[in-house]
Amino acid sequence: MKRVGIIGVGEYLPKRVLTNADLEKMVDTSDEWITTRTGIKERRLAAKSEATSDLAIKAAKDALADAKLKPQDLDLIIVATITPDMPFPAVACLLQNALGAKDAICFDISAACAGFVYAITVAQQFIARGSARNALVVGAETLSAITDWQDRNTCVLFGDGAGAVVLAEAKSGGILSTYLGCNGSKADLLMVPGGGSRNPASAHTLGKRLHHIKMKGNEVFKLAVTIMAEAAQNVLKKAGLECKDIDLVIPHQANVRIIMAMAKKLNLAPEKIYLNIERRGNMSSASTATALCEAVRAGRIKRGDIILLDAFGAGLVWGACVIKWG
Ligand code: COA
Repeated sequence: MKRVGIIGVGEYLPKRVLTNADLEKMVDTSDEWITTRTGIKERRLAAKSEATSDLAIKAAKDALADAKLKPQDLDLIIVATITPDMPFPAVACLLQNALGAKDAICFDISAACAGFVYAITVAQQFIARGSARNALVVGAETLSAITDWQDRNTCVLFGDGAGAVVLAEAKSGGILSTYLGCNGSKADLLMVPGGGSRNPASAHTLGKRLHHIKMKGNEVFKLAVTIMAEAAQNVLKKAGLECKDIDLVIPHQANVRIIMAMAKKLNLAPEKIYLNIERRGNMSSASTATALCEAVRAGRIKRGDIILLDAFGAGLVWGACVIKWG
């Protein structure tokens, strides 16, 4: 089995900024409530002309340039997304065509906010077993397209963006362990009920606003803290490491209170946690992807550092990954 590492990172954030002050004009909320309950100050929104593949393409090009690879060098593209341009074809196929990565096999992964970690884990298997040499993994979301802008319980939380990594055989460091999980009995806590085969698009589903995110926020909150802490412990155990060995945690950015409660459970110092939620909101699969890219570019991750990716999301699903930065 080959050891697999990340050889390039990239990101793309849409230009439009939506602040808490903007949201105060849209729903009955306040900057004070959003800031203290979530840690979010602003988020980015895609332009009307931008779909998820448009964000993914820009992040992918950025990551390929960072990895010093050409699109033709890719033999695998995986896009983690719950907001594809359309039910099919996969965003990864649109990305393959836009990049000219004609030799890459392509598919999407639907694992919500844990999608980026799920996709990294799958790509790692391909490379480790010699089925692929260079893999592009993208977490890209246009959550603004499924957000109910009349529902203050959810619309203050989400943003749009894309992050990408290129994976290849690692010369030094690399992925030390991965850990994935799912509890489908909690699927009803967070979903978009309309538009699929259960409730195909109709006047009824539109009228009931079933094409938007529905969430039992409080229940998700409590489960998220436990799930993220357990995922971290399990993935570290698989790597033969302990919490004290971690140099930086890149958590899913759903709520700063969830992240800090998880850190407390693990006895992790706040300075070991990378946060971008204040500027970005929750971008589902793009949250961990962009946070990783930002942390690398900000010099928060150095060669030899032990990095922990830790995410949870609708499903419920969760995933964690320990990487020795090479
Ligand atoms: N502005 C002002 N008040 C708001 C509000 C808003 N945007 N959204 C909700 N409220 C109100 C509620 O109506 C409720 O009022 P009530 O007590 O009069 O009924 C009150 O604030 C408290 O609501 P509650 O849901 O208990 O707040 P909370 O502390 O749990 O925070 C979330 C709400 C959504 C921020 C929090 O539960 C959360 O982050 N959950 C996890 C969500 C998540 O991570 N989702 C994605 C998973 S990847």
